[in-house]
Amino acid sequence: MSKKELDWWKKRIGILKGLSEQAQEFCPEIAEAAKNYQNNDENVGAWSFLKLLTLAYYINVYTTIAQKNFSDIFYIDLFAGDGFNNLRGLNEVIAGSPVIARIAPQKETKEGISKDFTEFILVEQDAKKAERLSKIMPENATIFTKDANDSAVMEYIEKRMAACRKPHYFAFIDPYCMQIKWSTLERLMNLPGDLIINFMTTPISRVWGSFHSEVKEDKPGREIFDEFFGDDSWLHVPPARDGGKVEDLLEIYVNKIEPYRKKRIPIKVRGLSGNFCYHMIVVTKEYCPWEDAINRVKTRVESVTDARIKNLFDIFNGRQGTLDDFY
Ligand SMILES: C[S@@+](CC[C@H](N)C(=O)[O-])C[C@H]1O[C@@H](n2cnc3c(N)ncnc32)[C@H](O)[C@@H]1O
Repeated sequence: MSKKELDWWKKRIGILKGLSEQAQEFCPEIAEAAKNYQNNDENVGAWSFLKLLTLAYYINVYTTIAQKNFSDIFYIDLFAGDGFNNLRGLNEVIAGSPVIARIAPQKETKEGISKDFTEFILVEQDAKKAERLSKIMPENATIFTKDANDSAVMEYIEKRMAACRKPHYFAFIDPYCMQIKWSTLERLMNLPGDLIINFMTTPISRVWGSFHSEVKEDKPGREIFDEFFGDDSWLHVPPARDGGKVEDLLEIYVNKIEPYRKKRIPIKVRGLSGNFCYHMIVVTKEYCPWEDAINRVKTRVESVTDARIKNLFDIFNGRQGTLDDFY
C-alpha cells in the first residue's frame, strides 16, 4: 500500500471517529446503551466499519456538490436503525447511517452556505429503534415506524419533492437481506436522486441456497425473490449445483436498474476471512461529478486486506496512533 493510500485511510478513519464522538456527545444515554451490547464477532465490526466509512465519504462529497445544484436535498434512509452501530469485537460505538447523514456534510463553505440536508426521511420498522432515533435527530427529520415498502412512505416522499423547485435526494437502502421490494425502489428511482443500495450478497445466497435445496422444511417461497427482483428473471440463474452463482443474481439486479440510472457501481465489502460479503451498489446518473470519488473509495475498500482492516481498527480505537509502522 502506498503512502498516499495509507494517508487516505487515516483521514477517513479520523472523520468517522470524529463523527462518532460528536454523535455520542449529543446523545450520551444512547451511546451508553449501545455499549452494553455484547458481541465479540470482529467480522461484523469489519463490514459495518467499511460500510459507514464509505457512506460518510459519499455523503460529504455528495452534499458539497449537490447543494450548489439543487434547491433542496433530501436524505432518505429506508432501513434507518436506531442511529448507532456497535462495532463488535472493537468495543466501539459508532454513528449509524442517519447520524452520519446529519453530521458528515460540511457545515459551512467559504461562501457561507450550509451543506446540510433540507430534510431527513427515515424509516425503521422496529418501534423501539424508531423511538431512540427520534430523540437524536433534528426537527427536520420525519420518521416512519413502518415497513419500508408501505406506500405511505413513498407518497410522502413524492409529495415533499413535488413541492420543491429543484429537488434531489440521496437514499441509503440498507436491509438485512431482501426486505426492499422492487416496486418500492422503482417508485423511488422515478424521482431525481442518487442511491446506495446494499445488495446483501451472502444472506441472499443463503436464502437462494435454501430455495433450491432438496430439504422441504423451512424452504422460502419464490414470492420473496419475485418481489425483490420485480419479476422472475432470477429464475434464469441455475442452482449452485448446476453452476449458478450469487454474483449472477447481483448482475441481474444491477442490470435491472439501468433503465432508471446509467451509472451503477457495485463496491464489494467483505467481512474478515472472506466468509461474508455484500455489495454497496452506488446508483447515479451518467454524468456524475463525483464519479472519481466513487471509484477511489471502491478501489480502496475492495483492496483492503484482513491484516490491514485490523490495523485500521487499531488506529480507530487508539491502540495505534499512526500508520508509520506499516511501511
Ligand atoms: C442493517 S440495519 C440498518 C443499519 C443502519 N442503516 C445503519 O447503518 O446504522 C437494518 C434495519 O432495518 C430494520 N428493518 C428490517 N426490516 C425492515 C422493514 N421491512 N422496513 C423497515 N425497517 C426494517 C431493522 O430493524 C434494522 O434496524
